[in-house]
Amino acid sequence: MMEQHILKSKLSVVGKTTEDIIKLEGLHIWIKENHILDAIDVNIPKNKITCIIGPSGSGKSTLIRSINRINDDVDGITTQGNINFNGSSILTSDTDIASLRTQIGMVFQKPCVFPKSIKENVLFGIRHLKKLSKIEKLQIVEENLKTVSLWKEVSHRLNDKAISLSIGQQQRLCIARTLAVKPEVILLDEPTSSLDPLSTRAIEDMMVKLKEEYTIVFVTHNIQQAKRIADHLIFICDGKLIEQGNASALFSCPQNSQTKAYLKDQYCAC
Ligand SMILES: Nc1ncnc2c1ncn2[C@@H]1O[C@H](COP(=O)(O)OP(=O)(O)OP(=O)(O)O)[C@@H](O)[C@H]1O
Ligand SMILES: [Mg+2]
Repeated sequence: MMEQHILKSKLSVVGKTTEDIIKLEGLHIWIKENHILDAIDVNIPKNKITCIIGPSGSGKSTLIRSINRINDDVDGITTQGNINFNGSSILTSDTDIASLRTQIGMVFQKPCVFPKSIKENVLFGIRHLKKLSKIEKLQIVEENLKTVSLWKEVSHRLNDKAISLSIGQQQRLCIARTLAVKPEVILLDEPTSSLDPLSTRAIEDMMVKLKEEYTIVFVTHNIQQAKRIADHLIFICDGKLIEQGNASALFSCPQNSQTKAYLKDQYCAC
């Protein structure tokens, strides 16, 4: 009886670690007549880092942008299939897009700071900002800048324009702005591609810490980077899912010959 109980609790722990927060089911995307994503079935495990890799033009950005419906704004786009977030479809006509984007935040390839102060950038996406006191606002600014290790560098110049920061600092500020909204999921589309190796490592280390509280989906061209940070790996090529799974298993023993070739030479013949 006792043994059974222990076995059950172990299974529930195992179950918890593999809980999927997002599932894409048979997702097709066309832009005008071009079939960009073809029957994509992938899962995004909660509180893990999922890396999406694949050649240029394979559909990585289109895939990640579909998860918070930024693609909706693309001219001539048609979507078919389903995306489930916390068990509910986010592709229905009554999905509250603004609310979805507070739950699923996004950081882009090039840091995209607003022409405002550092402080105002952190607070930018917060709803009901007017109801907060000056002290509460400052607490939010401090907390989020500390999380992205930017506080020490900028605490004395919070009213300076964000554009005066270095590119690496601007990208950390963009992450702080995303975190301030308290999302459950953070989508990052090649967030380190314009950064030097030191800033890149700082963001990678930050992601590894942040996964305790957030689910992270990270598009990268860089296989070494995916090796360093990914728990779950998705490889797409020419709009199709080639392989996905546990990152260390997939890196050490890919099942598909295209994955094998891509991980070795970053070349895919599909
Ligand atoms: N707004 C758009 N209008 C027309 N075609 C588009 C649009 N956005 C993307 N595409 C096309 O969809 C395909 C996939 O593009 P996507 O940007 O998703 O690829 P990617 O894997 O992110 O590439 P990269 O690694 O170069 O960023 C490409 O052929 C691209 O030209
Ligand atoms: Mg891209």
